Amino acid sequence: MTKTVVITGANRGIGLSFSSLYSKSGNTVYAVCRSASPELKALGVNIIEGVDVTREEGINKLVAALKGIKIDLLINNAGILRNEILGQINTSTIRQQFETNALAPLLVTEALIGNFAKPAKAAVITSRMGSVADNTSGGRYGYRMSKAALNIASVSLAHDLKPKEVSVAILHPGLVGTEMIGGVGDITPDQAAERLAQRIEELNLTNSGTFWHSNGEVLPW
Ligand SMILES: NC(=O)c1ccc[n+]([C@@H]2O[C@H](COP(=O)([O-])OP(=O)(O)OC[C@H]3O[C@@H](n4cnc5c(N)ncnc54)[C@H](OP(=O)(O)O)[C@@H]3O)[C@@H](O)[C@H]2O)c1
Repeated sequence: MTKTVVITGANRGIGLSFSSLYSKSGNTVYAVCRSASPELKALGVNIIEGVDVTREEGINKLVAALKGIKIDLLINNAGILRNEILGQINTSTIRQQFETNALAPLLVTEALIGNFAKPAKAAVITSRMGSVADNTSGGRYGYRMSKAALNIASVSLAHDLKPKEVSVAILHPGLVGTEMIGGVGDITPDQAAERLAQRIEELNLTNSGTFWHSNGEVLPW
C-alpha cells in the first residue's frame, strides 16, 4: 500500500536520500526544507519550502501546507552538528543545536498530531552520540546534549502517542558521508536511508520507543 511520508531536512544528505527512496517506491512524499536543492526538485516530489523547523513561522507554514493531509510516516531528520571545546564553551552553538535537534522534532510532531493516520509511524533521526552509555570519548557538548534530549523526548512521544496508534522509532543512521561530517563516512546517504527504512518497516506499537542503529542493533541509552 502506498503511504504519505513527510520528511524534514529533505534538500540534502540523508533527508534527500529518504525522499528519493520513498518516492521511487511509489509513496507520496512531502519533502520539507528551508530551500529546495536542484537534486530535490529533480525528484518530482511535493516540496514544502521555507520551513525553518526552529521557527514558529516555519512550523505554521508546514501545518498550513499539510492541512487535511493524513500522514502515514513522519521523519524528523533535520539536524545540525557543531563543536564545543571545554574551556571555550560556546553557549550559542549549544542553544542552536538544542533548538534544532531536540526541540524542533518535538514541536513538529506536536503540530502534526492531528494529521497522523491511524495507525501511523514517526521516526526521529538521532545519533548514538546522544547515548550516555556509549560516550567513551567526551566533547561535542551541544550535539550530545541535544541528541540525548531528543532521545528522552522521543520515548515520551512513544508513550503519549500509543493511544493514537502512532509508533515512534529513535534511529541512529551510522556514520554517513554527508556534508555534516565532511562527506566521508562508513556508508553513503542512500545506504543509510535504505537501512533506516528497513527499521521503520519493522516498527510497531510493541517495539515503539526503541533506540536502534540503522544496522538493526538496539543501542544503549
Ligand atoms: N551524517 C552522519 O554521520 C550522522 C550521524 C548521526 C546522526 N546524523 C543525523 O542525521 C540527520 C541528517 O543529517 P545529515 O547527515 O543528512 O546532515 P546534512 O547533510 O548536514 O543535512 C542536514 C539537513 O538538516 C537541515 N536543517 C538543519 N537545520 C535546519 C533548520 N533549522 N530548519 C530546517 N532544516 C534544517 C539542513 O537544511 P539546510 O540545507 O537548509 O541547512 C539539511 O537538509 C541529522 O539529524 C543528523 O544529526 C547524521
